[in-house]
Amino acid sequence: MTPVRVLAVASEVYPIVKTGGLADVAGALPVALKAHDVEMRTLMPGYPDVMRIVAGTQEIWRWPNYFGGPGRLLAGSYDGLDLFVLDVPHLYARPGNPYVTPDGVDWPDNGLRFAALSRVAADIGHGLVPAFVPDVVHAHDWQAGLAPAYLHYDNRPRPATVMTIHNMAYQGKFARELIGSIGLPWGSFNVHGLEYFGGISFLKAGLQFADRITTVSPTYAREIQSDEGGMGLGGLLRERAHVLSGILNGIDISVWNPQADPHIAYRYGADELTFRAANKAVLQQQFNLDSSDEAPLLGVISRLSWQKGLDLLLETIPTILGEGMQLALLGSGDRDLQDRYQAAARANPGRIGVVIGYDEILAHLLQAGSDALIVPSRFEPCGLTQLCALRYGAVPIVSRVGGLEDTIVDIGEADASGRDATGFKFAPVTAEALAGTLRKANTAFHDKQTWRRLQRNGLATDVSWRNRAGDYAALYRSLMTERA
Ligand code: ADP
Ligand code: GLC
Repeated sequence: MTPVRVLAVASEVYPIVKTGGLADVAGALPVALKAHDVEMRTLMPGYPDVMRIVAGTQEIWRWPNYFGGPGRLLAGSYDGLDLFVLDVPHLYARPGNPYVTPDGVDWPDNGLRFAALSRVAADIGHGLVPAFVPDVVHAHDWQAGLAPAYLHYDNRPRPATVMTIHNMAYQGKFARELIGSIGLPWGSFNVHGLEYFGGISFLKAGLQFADRITTVSPTYAREIQSDEGGMGLGGLLRERAHVLSGILNGIDISVWNPQADPHIAYRYGADELTFRAANKAVLQQQFNLDSSDEAPLLGVISRLSWQKGLDLLLETIPTILGEGMQLALLGSGDRDLQDRYQAAARANPGRIGVVIGYDEILAHLLQAGSDALIVPSRFEPCGLTQLCALRYGAVPIVSRVGGLEDTIVDIGEADASGRDATGFKFAPVTAEALAGTLRKANTAFHDKQTWRRLQRNGLATDVSWRNRAGDYAALYRSLMTERA
């Protein structure tokens, strides 16, 4: 097979910078693609955490004035990833979260910051780095959405383009005036270009001009073609349905491996699920929960945002308590939700434990020690925590949306789908439906054989990137064949 060269463009990449699942995907996919003869390099902004890693590596380009200040392009590698890093200090040399100020509001120049990233992606596409001229430029989310647009308006021979949507809720919307400062023609301000409700949208630009659009599950690919799921872009996606597909995410099964996980108290394999009890005991200690093996322990690892439906879970606390269950939640995000969960923990000592923050080590312990993992999202493009849960024997309880629908087989429908049941799904996404499913899960939990079967089926499910990376490789190759 001829190797394919792909330039991925992403605003966060695990293990360097991460705010959510996008980083996990951007960090794992290039490694998994190696087995499919795809050579992927990833372009990312030179935030301080990135610069620390690539300090002293090869400088391959220098601009005296790039979007208002000096800039450099560096090449380096880290942890199996080949990187291009755009070092533009006046845009990226800022501490903390890559998108928001320490006060939690979007950086006012985010439009400029991520236009700059896409501009250089297009330039690499045109051959800026002779040692790596990509066949495909693969843009992730709105932060990279202008890459296909620049390549389009540059009006030169160009590589093929793929735009992947990880979340329709973030569309990169800015005032129209920005066009004047990012080097796109004013002619791009029209309904078939960047224009979006009077302003511009970087995500729309990507969706408009990419040769192929993907999202991270087949069900989400359908949902976003509706007016509701499309969040304003449903019409465009319906028009472009012939180039849109859903490819499920995987997880890095070496990072998430209960047999060799350095972050958990006791390691275990599929035939040693009883050892999970030791992790549960440590988890109960860490979350100040009563130590009890008999009480089903429900875990949550999540951003706290409207998307994730965790306000609905709060409403089911009477059910959780009434059923004799415990809840351990690790999350951060909306101030209001943080406060409400902390209040719930204070009101129910020993039964509800809450850790507000972002803590990877604790996330591993939660997967290894919870009996069930809850993901009650209102929408979920793919979702990764339920995949980790399958691998760790925490039975997923999820809403029937997006990638949750595609990755979990409900206890009641194993026969119909031909796959074995791995968890519980509820619909509609309401507190009542969730409460009903929690009751059902509690009954199943106390039937040890049923529960063990769910866990074993979960552990037997392939959640790795292997086949999914193959789908991306096939997509890149189909584009090349088409253009040959
Ligand atoms: P999203 O990208 O919408 O936040 P995903 O399920 O795709 O949702 O990915 C979330 C990722 O972030 C997972 O790897 C999950 O383990 C991790 N994560 C989320 N919240 C926390 C937290 N508070 N602490 C540690 N890891 C977290
Ligand atoms: C987004 C989505 C999540 C998905 C992740 C990686 O953040 O919310 O569902 O798993 O991207 O694709």
